[in-house]
Amino acid sequence: MSAIENNVSLKRFNTFALEACAAHFTCCASPDDVAQAVALARGKGWRLLVLGGGSNLLLTGDFPGLVLRMEMRGIELLAADADAFLVRAAAGENWHDLVMHALDRGWNGLENLALIPGTVGAAPIQNIGAYGVELDSVFVSLRALDVASGEVAELDRAACAFAYRDSIFKHGAAGRYVILDVTFRLPRGRAPQVGYADVRDWLARHDIAHPCARDVADAVIAIRRAKLPDPATIGNAGSFFKNPIVTGERFSALAAAHPGLMGYAQADGHVKLAAGWLIDRAGWKGKGIGGAAVYERQALVLVNTGQASAGDVIGLAQAIRDDIRARYGVELEPEPVWV
Ligand code: EPU
Repeated sequence: MSAIENNVSLKRFNTFALEACAAHFTCCASPDDVAQAVALARGKGWRLLVLGGGSNLLLTGDFPGLVLRMEMRGIELLAADADAFLVRAAAGENWHDLVMHALDRGWNGLENLALIPGTVGAAPIQNIGAYGVELDSVFVSLRALDVASGEVAELDRAACAFAYRDSIFKHGAAGRYVILDVTFRLPRGRAPQVGYADVRDWLARHDIAHPCARDVADAVIAIRRAKLPDPATIGNAGSFFKNPIVTGERFSALAAAHPGLMGYAQADGHVKLAAGWLIDRAGWKGKGIGGAAVYERQALVLVNTGQASAGDVIGLAQAIRDDIRARYGVELEPEPVWV
C-alpha cells in the first residue's frame, strides 16, 4: 500500500471535476494493498470510499474517511475452449483499454461497451450498458474483499443481482465489498449486436453490410464522441438519470399526449422511456444553475462548465426532476452514486 496522504483534493479523481477533499487517501496496486488499507480503516474507524475512474460519482461534499484509489492491473486469458474465451481483468484496469485489448485478440463481445469511462472494478456496480449490451450478459463472476471479515469472496452472476444500471453493490451490499477482479465469458462466433438504431444507421452510412466486431466498436466510438462530452474536456458523469421504466398502459397514455415520445419495449411488457427525450422536449438543453448545465448535445448528461459546485449540480438535478414530474408524471432517478 502506498503511503497515506491527508487532506487530498479529489477534483482530478472525479470526472465531474467537483471540488471535494478526502481526509485520507491511498493508492492500491495489489489485493494485499487493499487488505492492508481496509484493515487500517477498520482499526481507525474510518469510512471507506473506493475510487475507480471516478466517472459515475457525485461528490456532494468532503469525504471524512479513507479513499482507496484502485490501481490494480492485469488482463489474463484463463481459458479458451471451442465455445468461448474466459478472461479475467483486475479492478484497476481502464474499461475501454480492456475492450480494445480483447478486440485485438479476437475476444469479441465487449465492443458495444467501447469508450465507457471508468474502470473494470466499477463496471459491475452499475451493470454498465450501451448500444444494446449490458455487462451482465458477459459476466461470470468477480472476486472481492469483504470489508467486515477481511476475506476474499467470489460472487457469481446470481449473487450480483444485476438489473438495468443496478446490482447488489448499490443496495444490500453497498460498502460491503472492494471488488478486486472480474471474469468475463466471451462466446466465439457470436453475431455482432447491431439492434440499436444509431449503430445500424452509422454502419449503413459507411456501407458496411456485414459488420465485424471491430466495425461495431468503430460505430460506437464515433457515436459516443459525437453525442457525449469527453470528461477530459468538460466535467460530467455520463447519463445523470436512469431511463425510467413504466407500464405499457402508462406509455400508451403518455405517447398519446406527447407525439414522438421515445420508448423501448421490455420483455415483460413494460416500456423504458428515453429520459433524454423528455428533458430535451421540456427545453432544458443548454440551461443551467451556477456552473452546472444540461449538455447541448445530450439532455441526459449534466456537465460542469468550469466552476460548478456540488450544490449547483444537485439544484439543477432537482429542478429537472420537479419539471419532468410536473409535465409527464414521471419520476427520474439519478444514475451516478452520490457520496
Ligand atoms: N434523445 C433526445 N434528446 C436528447 C437525448 C436523447 O431526443 O437530448 C432521444 C434520442 O434521439 C434517442 C433517445 O432519446 O431517440 C435515446 O437517446 P440515446 O440513444 O442517446 O440514449 P439514452 O437513452 O439517452 C442510454 C444510456 C447511455 C448509453 C446509450 C446508448 C442510460 C441512463 N443511458 O442513453 O449510457 O450510452 O443509451 O446505449 O441508460 C451512461 O450510462 O452514462 C450512458 C451514457
